[in-house]
Amino acid sequence: MLHGKKIIVGVTGSIAAYKAAYLVRLLVQYGAEVKVVLTKGALEFVTPLTFSTLSKNPVHSDFTENKDSGVWVNHVDMALWADMMIVAPLSANTLSKMAHGQCDSFFMAVYMSTRCPIMVAPAMDHDMFMHGATAENLQKLKSFGHTVVAPNEGELASGLIGKGRMAEPEQIVLCVRDYFGGKQPLHGKHVLVTAGPTYESIDPVRFIGNHSSGKMGFALAEELARQGARVTLVTGPVQLRAIDPMITRVDVQSADQMNSACLQVFPICDAAVMAAAVADYKPQQIADQKIKKGEQTWSLAMTKTPDIAAALGKMKQAHQRLVGFALETEHEVEHATGKMERKNMDMIVLNSLQHEGAGFGTDTNKITLIWPGNKMEEFGLKPKSAVAHDIVTAIVDLMPS
Ligand code: CTP
Repeated sequence: MLHGKKIIVGVTGSIAAYKAAYLVRLLVQYGAEVKVVLTKGALEFVTPLTFSTLSKNPVHSDFTENKDSGVWVNHVDMALWADMMIVAPLSANTLSKMAHGQCDSFFMAVYMSTRCPIMVAPAMDHDMFMHGATAENLQKLKSFGHTVVAPNEGELASGLIGKGRMAEPEQIVLCVRDYFGGKQPLHGKHVLVTAGPTYESIDPVRFIGNHSSGKMGFALAEELARQGARVTLVTGPVQLRAIDPMITRVDVQSADQMNSACLQVFPICDAAVMAAAVADYKPQQIADQKIKKGEQTWSLAMTKTPDIAAALGKMKQAHQRLVGFALETEHEVEHATGKMERKNMDMIVLNSLQHEGAGFGTDTNKITLIWPGNKMEEFGLKPKSAVAHDIVTAIVDLMPS
């Protein structure tokens, strides 16, 4: 998303400086080239080594690296190199300097030489943030055209509770992405994704599960986020990590829990992609104690779980889209089309188990996309990330303009 973007991260003297390390890491992960400038105040809290390691670039805090070398760091070159400068955290002191053009440091010289957009994330104690001088200074920065990423409320380093906590690095990155990525196809859309298996408890130590790894659902969540969507990923138990900060992960165990989570979030979503392998049945009763072994044979009374996709299909409003998955072993297209129609879906992804390398636990998949009206498109065997790209491209086409 930020591939090829050149970003200066200015870090000033605030305890929140430690969060700037994660911000730099995220920006680099998104493909940005990052150079870090530390103020003298920042050096009291963090070390240049942290930032040079994360940014893979030298870190500057002064005009000279070494007073005797005669070599100086050119603040103008650095400022003109940047596509954006982010000041995070922005202390009350540096805020005041920026508002008044008090150019008394390398950081300020870089800042005043920039021609690129500036984004600032203030961080200070509650009363400092509420002070009239801070409000006036922030107003001044806004009048310069700078973007202010407002601080959050919460517990502050002083122990006080209030406004002043620097926005989380993920929030700052979202603002940067919004700035550069306004043309992303799913910008402003919120998509619900289900992933992984469900575990249906039998007793305190046993459950009924399935072999779903969650890889397809997670790949979809990442691709949707990459294309600009905010994603709520409701996942059963999996050994996977969601990387993109646009993804909010909700962990559940059972079909009932997945159902509640989905019903809660779907009304505020633009689309839902149901990639989870939800158990169709659950034990009628969960035993309080571990069930002891008994007769040679044993049977368990089971009852149906809620059909989440069907419930969302019933709730679906005109602006919302619903995409499902079908894993079939026979009469594939016929069965998948039937499911799509029964559950009021706008598209169904048919997973074939007939092909080696497709299905549960693999890193590849082979799909056919089916739409109402007998329209379909078959794709070749591909890595799940590439399959996710094909599916998300089709979802983009489904969205109302
Ligand atoms: N699904 C769901 N909730 C369920 C069962 C299925 O949300 N309780 C969703 C799946 O995530 C998938 C689609 O419905 O997107 C189809 O799932 P599948 O299990 O193949 O469909 P079923 O209707 O359960 O049909 P089958 O009789 O083949 O099990």
